[in-house]
Amino acid sequence: MKSLIVANWKMNPESAKEAKALFSAVKKGIAGLNKKIDVVMCPPYEYLGLLKGLILGAQNCFYEEKGAYTGEISALMLKNMGVEYVILGHSERRRMGETDEQINKKLVKAVQAGLTPILCVGEKKEDKDRGKKQEVLEAQIKQCLGGITADVVIAYEPVWAIGTGDNCGVDETKESIDFIRKFVKTGTRILYGGSVKSDNSGSYLKEAGANGLLVGGASLNAKEFIGIVKSAE
Ligand code: PGA
Repeated sequence: MKSLIVANWKMNPESAKEAKALFSAVKKGIAGLNKKIDVVMCPPYEYLGLLKGLILGAQNCFYEEKGAYTGEISALMLKNMGVEYVILGHSERRRMGETDEQINKKLVKAVQAGLTPILCVGEKKEDKDRGKKQEVLEAQIKQCLGGITADVVIAYEPVWAIGTGDNCGVDETKESIDFIRKFVKTGTRILYGGSVKSDNSGSYLKEAGANGLLVGGASLNAKEFIGIVKSAE
């Protein structure tokens, strides 16, 4: 199975000039690397049309095809721009009110448009403390994947580990990934995300059974991100 390393730039950087510079630095740094690694770059929408030469992903899409939905973007629009992946259900969007039901509708549209969804799931600190981690993960997966038979990528991202520097331990990650595997098709790629850096990335791939990584903060630093991709070799 090919490893999948995904850069989630979130709402960064501030200008197209910086976006192009970061993108070309990454492109240069990973050229000639093992062809068994897929690297997907997920910049903000407005940069998608400007960046060429690596696989592109979006950070979200809407669950309707077209019409009066001010400020939204459809899966088909992304596909028509050459985008191949879309991150759905990120905890930063769930925090703004996105529900499992809406995420499921987005997955349906993404698959119909020919995009590969990267579905994010993960427990909050309080879920973990109350011993409800597995219950939360199971419910998110079952509800978000309801009726979906196409191949999707799952990103296990404990909410408390995102952007905090408090990355999830390898054993704990392995336990969650093994648990998630029970609810997805064989061959599904399961990524880990949450404070991944070049000095911890390799252990998730080698010891925790992750098939790849979803990288936020560290993907904004070309050197760090290239180091993370190299750790998948
Ligand atoms: P982080 O973000 O690497 O900055 O923790 C990961 C994510 O939000 O996908």
